[in-house]
Amino acid sequence: MSSRKNQTLLKILLVLLAFSAAVFFGYPLFTDEPAPAPAADEPVFSFAQFSDVHFDSGAGAADWTQGSGDRLTRAIAQVNDIIKPDFVVFTGDSVNSQHRPQALGSLKELLDSTCRVKYYMVKGNHDGPGFSKVFGKRCYTFEHKGLLFVAFGYHYIDPYHMQAATCDQLPWLKKVLAENKSRRVVILVHDPIVPNSFLDAPTVQLALKEAGNVVAVLSGHMHFDGWNEADGIVHIVAPCFGADPHVFKEYKVFADRIEVRNWLVKEGKYVQGEELRKITFPPVKEPVQEKPDSQPENIEKDKQEPKDKPDDKAGEKED
Ligand SMILES: [Fe+2]
Repeated sequence: MSSRKNQTLLKILLVLLAFSAAVFFGYPLFTDEPAPAPAADEPVFSFAQFSDVHFDSGAGAADWTQGSGDRLTRAIAQVNDIIKPDFVVFTGDSVNSQHRPQALGSLKELLDSTCRVKYYMVKGNHDGPGFSKVFGKRCYTFEHKGLLFVAFGYHYIDPYHMQAATCDQLPWLKKVLAENKSRRVVILVHDPIVPNSFLDAPTVQLALKEAGNVVAVLSGHMHFDGWNEADGIVHIVAPCFGADPHVFKEYKVFADRIEVRNWLVKEGKYVQGEELRKITFPPVKEPVQEKPDSQPENIEKDKQEPKDKPDDKAGEKED
């Protein structure tokens, strides 16, 4: 047999082999079906939210807070080993009683020794006057992969009375939002702004609406799971982590949206909640053109003040 005939036979054998393999593995060879969709987009980053942990320990701790350290340690292990977010935010009432300030220090020790990712704290009405000494300023900003986070801690006139929070740092908040018009912003608070849960809530809501760059407000305080939309902003209320089923939230940030899921204890195990909700980003506004002679000064200022550190310019009165 000539070598040309050998080559022709080899080609026929290869075609038959490919056809058989395609049929065997279930690939449709002749179909009008559209091509498979491209692989799903990947999140840019993720973070977790715990609210109303109501941590306490030792003699004198309230009954319902007994075991709060073990529960938090277990959830943090889930965060470390399974969820692996870029960071965690705690949106207030991280401890149970302002009359037991030692709990703040014990909580910090627990988090520093167990949480393998960076964590950020927001002051709640139960956290008391010792909060800033242990966890730092109650109003600050940090930026992560293009998203600006603004922790906005309130001043509590009467910590255990509803409507008793005031926003003494509202001018600071307005300034931060005005200076970051071209960024998408996530606000971290304790008492929800929507639904209106404190004295200054309508004023703060108007400020966020006028700023036009806020995509979401993450809060707690109410001890229920809430989702409200107002003025193009999604207002999320995280449930009380300290109570059964010990829910915390996971946020996956994509280029065009944030996906939100709960994690909760079910039959003794942490499982992902079934519901998936989405915050869709509106288009980013074009940044205002800087005057040529002011540009170098601003660039230098950004270099000197990294955005992922608490903002020392808040000028707030700590309480
Ligand atoms: Fe609470």
